[in-house]
Amino acid sequence: MEKKTVFSGVQPSGDLTIGNYLGAIQYFSRLQEEYNCYYCVVDMHSITINQVPAELRKNSLSLMALYIATGIDPDKSVLYMQSHVPEHAQLAWVLNTISYMGQLSRMTQYKEKISKNPDNQNVGLFTYPVLMAADILLYQADFVPVGSDQKQHLELTRDLAERFNNKYSPTFVVPEPLIPDSGGRIMSLKDPSAKMSKSDEDESASIYILDNTDAIIRKIKRAVTDSIGEFNYRDEQPGLMNLINIYSSFSGLKPDEIVGRYEGENYGRFKEELGILVAEGLKPIQERYNEIFADKEYLQKICKQNAERASYAAQKTLRKVYKKVGFYQP
Ligand code: AMP
Ligand code: TRP
Repeated sequence: MEKKTVFSGVQPSGDLTIGNYLGAIQYFSRLQEEYNCYYCVVDMHSITINQVPAELRKNSLSLMALYIATGIDPDKSVLYMQSHVPEHAQLAWVLNTISYMGQLSRMTQYKEKISKNPDNQNVGLFTYPVLMAADILLYQADFVPVGSDQKQHLELTRDLAERFNNKYSPTFVVPEPLIPDSGGRIMSLKDPSAKMSKSDEDESASIYILDNTDAIIRKIKRAVTDSIGEFNYRDEQPGLMNLINIYSSFSGLKPDEIVGRYEGENYGRFKEELGILVAEGLKPIQERYNEIFADKEYLQKICKQNAERASYAAQKTLRKVYKKVGFYQP
């Protein structure tokens, strides 16, 4: 039987958090044995928010190195940068013409981003989900591992695939999201009602994958919990619940088992041990990352070779699409 295809992408806009890791990236390397995987540094998505060009360049290469450090093997998976494969923008244009203003204006992430960036309400922010759909549909992906915040964008992707298939003829695979149970949404350490985000200005709200041990322990110690002071896993204690989810993801223990361990205590020992658990869990990734990021020649080679592999697959889909919509092709 032919292997199914997986696609996912992460924006190179800032330092990655454990939310990115637990919600998405940790699964990428696990999927590569069973599936044909495409993992993309979606730099074209990042410029919908103002970027400092030199930083974007550095962050893009850094994300490539981090992908590899978390176990993605660039000989197995196709690991590349979006802007190196022009078919993404080409398919996005065609999909724009079957996307409706109403549906795009209901996207939660779009509404959030325009309210946070009142001085930069650019059209790219509006059509961002269409570019994302193009990313996925170009490779005929069956599955898309993402955190739960991307669910709505995946719904839109499915709609666009079906709309195109119905309007012309079956062309695209209709993809399914793969959303993890406990790491699907890691919350801010300072405000458990907001998701942990790499664009948060308060650095103590997030644990970054490349944070050192001291920083991790300090941030967890100061994480917002509650004044109830009883060790439970329940919605009324969202700060503690989030920390238990993090503990669960790094230890493989279920929330109930963790509650069993710390029941009857205040949060002190739990927080201390969680800090060590997270730091130890991230250490091997950090060590590999430092080696890989230092080797620019290697990274350049990966970028080039993999962009060619991606482009080869992408062209196959794009040619079909161009033919179906009626573009003359000599
Ligand atoms: P982004 O940082 O928006 O490029 O997200 C990259 C991937 O990480 C996506 O699949 C997101 O759904 C996932 N992700 C981002 N933040 C979190 C979070 N706080 N919890 C879980 N997953 C997240
Ligand atoms: N929009 C995603 C995010 O913010 C990133 C992304 C872009 C993506 N294209 C994608 C994720 C395709 C999965 C598949 O997290």
